[in-house]
Amino acid sequence: MNSVDRPPRDHPLRVALLGCGVVGTEVARRLTRDADELARRVGVPLELVAIAVRDVARERDLDVPAELFTDDAEALVRSGDLDIVIEVLGGIEPAGDLIRAALDHGASVVTANKALLADQGADLFAVAEKAERDLSFEAAIAGAIPIVRPLRESLAGDRVSRVLGIVNGTTNYILDQMSTLGQSFDEALAEAQRLGYAEADPTADVDGHDAAAKAALLAGLAFHTNLTLDDVHCEGIRSVTAEAVRSASEMGSVVKLLAICEQIETPDGPAVSARVHPAMVPLSHPLASVRGAFNAVFVESEAAGQLMFYGPGAGGAPTASAVLGDVVSVARNRVSDVFGPGETSHADVELVPIGRARTQYHLVVDVDDRAGVLATIAQEFARFGVSIRTLRQEGHDSDAQLVIVTHEAEDESLAATVEGLRGLDVVRGVSSVMRVEGGQ
Ligand code: HSE
Repeated sequence: MNSVDRPPRDHPLRVALLGCGVVGTEVARRLTRDADELARRVGVPLELVAIAVRDVARERDLDVPAELFTDDAEALVRSGDLDIVIEVLGGIEPAGDLIRAALDHGASVVTANKALLADQGADLFAVAEKAERDLSFEAAIAGAIPIVRPLRESLAGDRVSRVLGIVNGTTNYILDQMSTLGQSFDEALAEAQRLGYAEADPTADVDGHDAAAKAALLAGLAFHTNLTLDDVHCEGIRSVTAEAVRSASEMGSVVKLLAICEQIETPDGPAVSARVHPAMVPLSHPLASVRGAFNAVFVESEAAGQLMFYGPGAGGAPTASAVLGDVVSVARNRVSDVFGPGETSHADVELVPIGRARTQYHLVVDVDDRAGVLATIAQEFARFGVSIRTLRQEGHDSDAQLVIVTHEAEDESLAATVEGLRGLDVVRGVSSVMRVEGGQ
């Protein structure tokens, strides 16, 4: 911990909130309702002095004085009169500029903004470091689940090798519905929208962008480096078919959208792969049991072994829990006039392109059922150095299907094999291709 040479403070800490949506409302409500208890935990009271919103006249389900609301967030963060700024606006701008200004003007910042940190994290952490202030973001990854602090602090003495996360509740809910009710993607998405899990424009969730931003942050924390959203290979779940989900079930697996961050040893030194894509996960893996809109992050490290962090990954109250945990933590630092550990980004690691990532494939190949077909198919796998782990034939005569699971191989060899199969006369089509993760 870095200490700065100032006496401890004995007056209330002045807290401002930027944004008053679902999470902001819950944070304001709890800051007010639990003021006495929070004061005991911090050592001094936390005084909510302002809430910056776009429309001050809007009716809100929040019992705070109307004069707390302002529509001038810029003036608020530049006032130099704040100890802690909580940013729950979301989006890149103006959130980024407001956080920079808040830090420059002496406030510590708590944010839930994964998109911003996955875009400008390195710069924002440098601003915080220079200002000798905290920039905390537990709520940015998987809502209420404590994962930032465990990776940054609890595991700081260990070597993390892999992080596998179900970090998007909307897609986990959709895939779970497809798995348990046999629904199509469109049916499950419509249901998720009806229940309020999925937004009217579900792009950020179903195309994997939300999970990819979290993957960038997780990889940075786990491997002491800086990654941005552009460093993460991203595939969403729109192309996951009911047939693929059924096929997963038949082989004792479930389909999950995974955020995967791995450290890989290459001849040139350690390299990091960060990717988001749907994958079949065997039922024996703890992540397979993560149902509905829940999130979980599975961490593998050298000394600790396997750890799993599980819980609600979104929603007002769960996200407010993570925000308020950070608020108490940075407030304690303000009371002691210190600031906590910053980001460690010393590791000079290469990024592994998706083609070089190692994974297994599950394929469903529609073929003619006649002599020599299997030999031709096997030859195509051999051509690209891909080893077949299991092969099952379903149907016969004109409708034979081969369900093939490979051993681990580089993604580009697997993709080339699929392309090769599609070009064979004996192959009528490759109806499903999905990666398999979390196996032995
Ligand atoms: N939309 C996200 C989810 C929560 O469905 O999990 C915020 O990142």
